[in-house]
Order: sequence, then structure tokens, then C-alpha cells
Amino acid sequence: MTPQEKKHAVALAALGFIRSGMVLGIGTGSTVNAFIAALKDHKISLAGAVSSSRATAELLKAARIEELELNSTGPLDLYIDGADEATRQRALIKGGGAALTREKIVAAASKRFVCIIDDSKLVEVLGRFALPVEVIPMARSQVARELLALGGQPVYREGVVTDNGNVILDVHNLMLTDPVAFESTVNQITGVVCVGLFARRGADDLLVASDAGVQHLC
Ligand code: 5RP
Repeated sequence: MTPQEKKHAVALAALGFIRSGMVLGIGTGSTVNAFIAALKDHKISLAGAVSSSRATAELLKAARIEELELNSTGPLDLYIDGADEATRQRALIKGGGAALTREKIVAAASKRFVCIIDDSKLVEVLGRFALPVEVIPMARSQVARELLALGGQPVYREGVVTDNGNVILDVHNLMLTDPVAFESTVNQITGVVCVGLFARRGADDLLVASDAGVQHLC
């Protein structure tokens, strides 16, 4: 299967979790875009959806899915999102699309988080994909020094401003053998808005598309 075919397959598998009338959280990225297309194709009727980015909000509008404000929905039935890397224990690295903060908020507000990926993203230990960290702009260099002291190699993602008006540092050369502890440590650095480690609240279900089909890890 091509990468696009895998995205399509895993998006279709995610439809199996949806019931009509649900309020969904919907993440960001090309795999999620395939999921939104599948929702549209199958004419699934939702009560509405909370989006994790402006880019996804545009696609929801085009698919005629009502966009809701998280402040008015209460807990969400289900959150569907992709990831940049995942372990079989369902810890994730996210934020390749710079939407990590809103993604983490929507995940936290959801009763169930179904993550959809292809098998190229499944790893034994997180860290091959550089870990995105969203930072208040004036704290960029200070936070970079702190991340260096933790053993990473932070690189400023130039030209990118998040939907929240912040910047991203991508931290290379990490081997995240204890992602829960590392997530807590980075959260404590002053100036960090959000770290793209989803380990304290990982996915509840991980759907992995490969040539053999879609595997469900839970
Ligand atoms: C955006 C994300 C995405 O979920 C992640 O980058 C995966 O994207 P794609 O499905 O395009 O590979 O975290 O911030």
C-alpha cells in the first residue's frame, strides 16, 4: 500500500468508533484530513466537532460539519488524531504540524482518544522524530538552553508561528525511555507552553495501518 492508501485505510477503520450524534474532537494533519474526507463520504451525522487547528476548522467547514467551541461542549465523546511517532503502549510524539497545544487540550477534554497512524510511525522508543516544544517567543533561547541541559539538541522551527502566536523548538537526539517523566520535566520549564509528548495522557486506542491491514492496539 502507498502511504496515502494506508491513511485512507486507517481513516475508514476509525469510522467504526463513530456513532451518529456524537460530539468529536478532531486533530490536525494529513491522516486526519483522510478521516474528515471519510466522514464526508459516508455522510455520518455528528452533533458537531471541536477542531485542534485553523487548518482542520477549514476542512470541517467544507465538509459541512458544525464546528463547536470547547468551552460550550463539555467533555467530548471521542478524539480522533494522528501522530508523528507512537509506541505499542500508546505514548505519542505529536506536533509535526505545530498544533500540539490545542491537540493536547482537546485530548484532555475527550473521554476516548483514538490515534490513527501508519506502521512507519510505530517505534520501540520515542525520540527518532524530533520532539516539538511550543514556547513563548521571548523565552526561546532560555528554554533551548534548558532542553540542551536535558540532553536534547533543540532546533528553532524558523518561520512557524503557532495558532496561539508562539514558536516551536524541535528537540533532536532524545531517547525517551521514560516518556511520562520527561513530559513532566519539560512541562516544568518556565516559558514552555506545551511539549508534544502525549504519554501522561496517551491514546486509548491506536490504529496502525500496514500492508497486512489495520491493527488495533488498546
Ligand atoms: C500535528 C500533529 C499530527 O498529528 C502529526 O504531525 C501527524 O501528521 P500526519 O498525519 O500528516 O503525518 O501532531 O500537530
